[in-house]
Parts: sequence; C-alpha cells; structure tokens
Amino acid sequence: MAGIEVLVVGSGGREHALALGLSKSDSVSKVHCSPGNAGTSMVAENHQVSDSDIEGIVDLAIQLSVSLVVVGPEAPLVHGLSDRLRANSIPSFGPHSEGALLEGSKIHAKMLMQSLGVPTGSFHRVENLDEIEGSLDSFEPPWVIKRDVLAGGKGVTVTTSREDAREALKYGIEEDGFVLIEEHLSGEEASILVIMDESGYVMLPPSQDHKRVGNNDTGPNTGGMGAYSPAPIVTPSVLARAREEIIEPMHHYLRNSSTPYRGCLYVGLMIDSQGSPSVVEFNVRLGDPEAQVTIPLIKSDLGELLLSAAEGRVSETQVEFKKLHASTVVLASEGYPGAVVTGREIYGWNTEIDEGLVRGFVHLAGASMDERGKLTSNGGRVLSATGLAPSLNESLEASYQIIGGITLDGSHYREDIGFRALSG
Ligand code: AMP
Ligand code: GLY
Repeated sequence: MAGIEVLVVGSGGREHALALGLSKSDSVSKVHCSPGNAGTSMVAENHQVSDSDIEGIVDLAIQLSVSLVVVGPEAPLVHGLSDRLRANSIPSFGPHSEGALLEGSKIHAKMLMQSLGVPTGSFHRVENLDEIEGSLDSFEPPWVIKRDVLAGGKGVTVTTSREDAREALKYGIEEDGFVLIEEHLSGEEASILVIMDESGYVMLPPSQDHKRVGNNDTGPNTGGMGAYSPAPIVTPSVLARAREEIIEPMHHYLRNSSTPYRGCLYVGLMIDSQGSPSVVEFNVRLGDPEAQVTIPLIKSDLGELLLSAAEGRVSETQVEFKKLHASTVVLASEGYPGAVVTGREIYGWNTEIDEGLVRGFVHLAGASMDERGKLTSNGGRVLSATGLAPSLNESLEASYQIIGGITLDGSHYREDIGFRALSG
C-alpha cells in the first residue's frame, strides 16, 4: 500500500519528534512541516507558513493534498485550525476549538471538572480589587494565581509571599478583568498523554517534566527543561485511579460532545503522598518535552495511530510500546526563560549513540541551519538530547553524554533530570 503524506504544524522539539516518528512509519510516504525547524528539515520538507496563519495552513494542506494534518501547539487549535481543516474534509489530529477550550480557558476546565466530579483543587474567580484580601484569606499559602489566558505556562504564579500574590491578583484583574485563585496541590507531578477520539483512547507511557529552570527545582517556571518516561511515581494503582477518576469521565464527556474530541488530551497530574491523583491542568496537545520521550517509546506505526484518531477509529488500532526507558535534557539559550540571546553557532550537535538497545540522538527546537549545515540558535529552548535504553540510568547517561559534547555560548541545562525516579 502506498503511504500517505502528512503535514506537521509547529516548530519545536515536539514537532521534530513527531516528524521523526512519522518519517519512520511504514504508513507514511512523505512528511511535510510548517514552519518546522532545522531538525524537521532533515526528515521532512519544511514550508514557510506560520502556525498562527490558520487559513495559510489550510491552503497549504489542500495544495499538498495531505491525508493528515498533525497539529503540534495549542494556539492554532484554540483558534480553530482543526475546525477549518475538517470543513475541508482533511483529517486533523488535534481537537476542534470547542475541545481546545480545555487548555484555552482554565476556568472552563475547572468548571467542567467540578461538574464531572473529576478530582482537582478548589478555585475562586476574582473580579474586583476589593475582593483580593478576602480571597487570600480563604486559601492557605502557597497561593496559586492563574490568568485565564494562553500564556505558555507563564500566566501562573505560585508563591508564599502575600505581597507577590496580591500583585499577581491585581495584575490579572487589571489585564483581563478577572483572575483565578486556586487551592495549592502538593505532591509530585506527572503527565499522561492520552490519544483519544469518540471510539476510544490509548494512554502513552506516563512521563515527568521538569518545569523549573534550575537544578533541584529552583528558579522560574519554563516550558519544560527535560523529561523521562515511564515515570515510576505513576504506579499501577495510581494509573488505575487516574483512569477511573479522570480519564474515563473526561472521555465519556468528550466523546459525547457535539463535535467529538480527536487528538491528544494531556492530563497534568499531582499525585499526593497517599497516591491520590488530581488534575493540575489539561492541555490539548502533546507536551514539549514529553513528546520527545513518549513518541520514541511507541513501537507501532505512529502515522497509523495519529490517522486513526483523526478519523475517529482509534479503538481499531493496536498500539504496542517498547520495553525501554527514554529521557531528554533540554539545552536552553542564555537568559531563558527570560529575554534570550540567540544567533549563536551550535557545535557538536550532530553525534548519535547507537549501541544496540542504547541510543542517543538530538531533537532540535529553536535552531536554524544554513545551506552549509551550520546550526545557529534562534529560540529559548534550542534542542534536547534524548536517550533510549533498557534502564532509566542508561538512557540518562546517553542524554548527558550527547549534551556534554555540545557547545553553545551562554547556554545552560539541568544536571538532575530524572532525580525523583532515581532517588525513589
Ligand atoms: P499550569 O500552567 O496550570 O500547568 O501551571 C504551571 C505549573 O504551576 C504546574 O505545572 C505546577 O507546577 C504549578 N501549579 C499550577 N497549579 C498548581 C496548583 N493548584 N497547585 C500546585 N502547583 C500548581
Ligand atoms: N511540558 C509542559 C507542556 O508541554 O505543557
């Protein structure tokens, strides 16, 4: 059977992982990416349409006659890219705009969880400056303040300082008209990426990100500095509870929505010391860098899995996973997650480890390549070094061996990815 052509939308490390996985799928004959990055250009044909140009992406998909569009980031989904693709009879992996509200509006997600009885922290919507003190009194510190906007993880303040919490509430009210204050959940975070449609769902192996910029979870929040999978904190009993208390009710609700949800539901969990999971957040896409550690663990044909979800027949697809561990360590530009210095040359990125079951390779993200193969940084998270091995230790060794051989002036990476799993 001739393979299909697929268009991947986005430009990060997640999209490199998607394009790489699709390029190795027997069901796929060609991968396109828009706008893509230096990594996707090695396994796909890049096109210069921005992922924020919804009509431009629809036109590109029509012009290329692709059989599937895989949408990486959330913003185009919130802005209706999948709605527009489906209106043109093009299967899209990624929910319609109504489903994408789960990430686009935190208050919508919270209210839905409340109505379905899905475990999550309590919350309160604050609209007036004179409600600030009362709302701070009614929640225990640390206070969690969230703006109800797409902010790439940066709209969240978690603080024990009443002054900082007050400022965050005031800022949110002034900027957006209202802001959320939430109960602080304690425990350990983990993510489950669930590929779903109205026919069923497939859970990818649980993973754990590292959101803070510095070792030992210090410094500001980032998009994610590294990840590994499977995450042992998600024991079989935690997984069973997450499935029964969170994933099943969400799937039941989403499959019966006016337009069924077809794509990935990213379930961000907090697992307390008793092993009870509750939801910190939903995202409507694969995580970055969680995609870089979960996609390489899929043994089955990735193109067939994503197409089946886009067509509403994921329950017909048998998905197998490799019995391996994956890790990825992110290399970030000087200044990240603040204002970054870019345009610097990256050396030593093009090495791989290929020793039977132990593999190591690079996923590129904020990096561009010129005609002569010279690679330059052009974003905050520049690349990540991914390891795949029979044990987490060996996979981390592969990741660190690769990243240790890479030079980019002013760059930084965390040296403790996986520490929770290793110390546990
Ligand atoms: P979010 O954008 O909602 O994922 O929040 C970003 C990060 O802030 C999460 O990954 C958590 O580390 C932290 N966070 C958010 N909400 C809470 C909460 N209710 N309790 C504790 N930590 C939280
Ligand atoms: N790594 C967290 C996210 O993709 O939202």
